[in-house]
Amino acid sequence: MKILVTGGCGFIGSHTVCELLDNGYEVVIIDNLCNSKKEVISKIETITNKKVLFYEGDVRDKELLHKIFQDNTIDGVIHFAGLKAVGESVKIPLSYYRNNIDSTLTLLEVMQESNCKNIVFSSSATVYGIQESPKYVETMERGKTSSPYGETKAMIEKILEDLYASDPTFKITILRYFNPIGAHKSGLIGENPNGIPNNLMPYILKVATHELPELTIFGNDYDTIDGTCIRDYIHVVDLAKGHIKALEHAHKSNPNIYTYNLGSGHGVSVAEIVTAFEKVNKLKLNYKFGARREGDLPEFYADPSKALKELGWKTEETLEDMCKDSYHFIIKEKGE
Ligand code: NAD
Ligand code: WQD
Repeated sequence: MKILVTGGCGFIGSHTVCELLDNGYEVVIIDNLCNSKKEVISKIETITNKKVLFYEGDVRDKELLHKIFQDNTIDGVIHFAGLKAVGESVKIPLSYYRNNIDSTLTLLEVMQESNCKNIVFSSSATVYGIQESPKYVETMERGKTSSPYGETKAMIEKILEDLYASDPTFKITILRYFNPIGAHKSGLIGENPNGIPNNLMPYILKVATHELPELTIFGNDYDTIDGTCIRDYIHVVDLAKGHIKALEHAHKSNPNIYTYNLGSGHGVSVAEIVTAFEKVNKLKLNYKFGARREGDLPEFYADPSKALKELGWKTEETLEDMCKDSYHFIIKEKGE
């Protein structure tokens, strides 16, 4: 089977491409490299010892998409391409709506025109918003998202639902990721954003490698076990494997729209992650407690039981693995 992976040079996309190739899929990537580097392609090829077909370009470029579908028999699409920085999306919302919505609409139009009706979409736990329980279940209604970024995910989910209602020959799988961290065991691919990171693990890595002086833990007065926020961190390789399971499930299932949480089901506090990182990597992180970050929820984590039951997927990597693999990647990256 040949899978088109949009955003395949990015953090989650690159790990998923490795899993696809390791599982016998052929892969075509389209990425405009707005948040990734072309070298990722050769790293993927080194890891897997397989070739990838790479189109450098924008998913909003309909002509290019048509060419890709004409040049290749695409059996399914995994759609990662999108802008993802929550804070930035508040500052430049139009860019976020333009990029994330337009790219999805263009892709879906070309898929429909090319009679390719199998898509897996990268959604996010952010679509749940504030719920009565911190344990998010797929049966909950989408909540009020806290950023334009989150809104693009909720809007795309709705677009996919409307598309399915109009064309029930589509197989649509919506995967709601929780907090992906970690890196490939090879240390060749991982997440290393330019500039000052917003997300916790990339920030920790910059402090651990002395690129930044100090981590600020945003708030230690929440009503949680140690006062710091609780999230469901998931190893990016576990997450990547979830996409293989989603494709396998779609292959043997009837057309429909399926939605799954991909998370571990366990909440971990910021303080716990800092302690685990220090212990497993045998180092001290310079950190202080600061004010709460606006928009942060105190606690949420996945109910991953639907993914286990229907996809046969669950996380295997531990918090220690995530901390170890993230650090291994950044040390290797900096040493190169
Ligand atoms: P990433 O930025 O590392 O990867 C996204 C890739 O898409 C990048 O390589 C970028 O260059 C490319 N891209 C963006 N817009 C494009 C366009 N219009 N045309 C072609 N390529 C384009 O992000 P990631 O962490 O790998 O996330 C992948 C997907 O998962 C995104 O849709 C993101 O919103 C979603 N997601 C991420 C997280 C997370 O915490 N990382 C959590 C939930 C959901
Ligand atoms: C995790 C915890 C912070 C940085 C975001 C998006 C979400 C999803 C994943 C895409 C929080 C704390 C962080 C720092 C800190 N992405 N923190 N100091 O906010 O849970 O989720 O990424 O869909 O949509 O909102 O992730 O990594 O930013 O924060 O104390 O310097 O770490 O307060 O509790 P978040 P995060």
